[in-house]
Amino acid sequence: MSIIILGIESSCDDTSAAVVKDGLLLSNVIASQAVHAEFGGVVPELASRAHQQNILPVVDTALKRAGIDKTDLSAIAFTRGPGLLGSLLVGTSFAKGLSLGLRVPIVDVNHLHGHVLSHFIKREDGDEVPEYPFLCLLVSGGNSQLILVRNYNDMEILGRTIDDAAGEAFDKCAKVMGLPYPGGPHIDRLAAEGNPKAFNFAKPHIPGLNYSFSGLKTSFLYTIRDAVKAGNTDFVKENMADLAASLQATIIDILINKLDKAVKETGVKTVAIGGGVSANSGFRQAIADYCVKRHIKAFIPERVFTTDNAAMVAIAGYYKYLDRQFCKYDEVPFARVGV
Ligand code: KG4
Repeated sequence: MSIIILGIESSCDDTSAAVVKDGLLLSNVIASQAVHAEFGGVVPELASRAHQQNILPVVDTALKRAGIDKTDLSAIAFTRGPGLLGSLLVGTSFAKGLSLGLRVPIVDVNHLHGHVLSHFIKREDGDEVPEYPFLCLLVSGGNSQLILVRNYNDMEILGRTIDDAAGEAFDKCAKVMGLPYPGGPHIDRLAAEGNPKAFNFAKPHIPGLNYSFSGLKTSFLYTIRDAVKAGNTDFVKENMADLAASLQATIIDILINKLDKAVKETGVKTVAIGGGVSANSGFRQAIADYCVKRHIKAFIPERVFTTDNAAMVAIAGYYKYLDRQFCKYDEVPFARVGV
């Protein structure tokens, strides 16, 4: 009999549902929340409300697109954390209610595991997936982590940011330049036109495999402040593309520097990237080039799987289902980061 998993993701500001049948993705529906744009960041209270409005139509559409009746589901996988508590509660409660109604088990998924396992989403038999062990560089608005993945349920964080995440560095510097939130995609677009060597920004010198991006943010801010103080009030306007290209190049350099260290220390032959920042064109190219140079395999996710999506939750849930790892009904969401 086929194993059919409905995945539900509601950890931040995207409501998503997906259906996976015997490990193959049948549908993946994402409703993004435009309501936050005018506030320059995600407003938790508004996010929870929007999830409440979106979750039923999103799940219904995912089932319809998959051509699956809800009574055919084997289990319901949902993101239990980390994320915004109010947002997580919507997905968790919905999953519990539906599972009780359908008399099928629930499977809880760690959002970060989901991002790592997004490389196991297959559209058809024969799609290539990473071989264990591999290193995953998870870079998003909230996390920058180097994870050694030994198995779908055996992951070790080798390094993490000690302050800001890479996505935050993109967003905060973009804000200084007067760009809308989230700034990462705007920097990406501008950087394509600019000179990555035009400006030198500070790079962290911290031991081990941890990251730091707060010094770069300050250095970026001071470069602009000093130029404006010196009388060039149009400095940002005149140097938009060069600032973006230099910032992006510095972030990529910091990311790849520690990745290289981790590759050498672990001896892995495969590297994967994930999270919102892995949509960045320069970063994707740099990872591909790095892996060619080091003769290792690169797994770069389709752009739709870089941001929050339920396909990764459904596939992570599928593996846990195969191991009969079900969730109890008294389990509650968790907000804190971890794998
Ligand atoms: O994983 P994600 O969707 O959610 C959070 O963890 O918040 O990541 C969002 C982050 C934001 O900081 C956004 O600016 C960044 O990913 N991002 C990008 C690009 N697309 C999204 N950063 C750089 N270049 C991009 N193309």
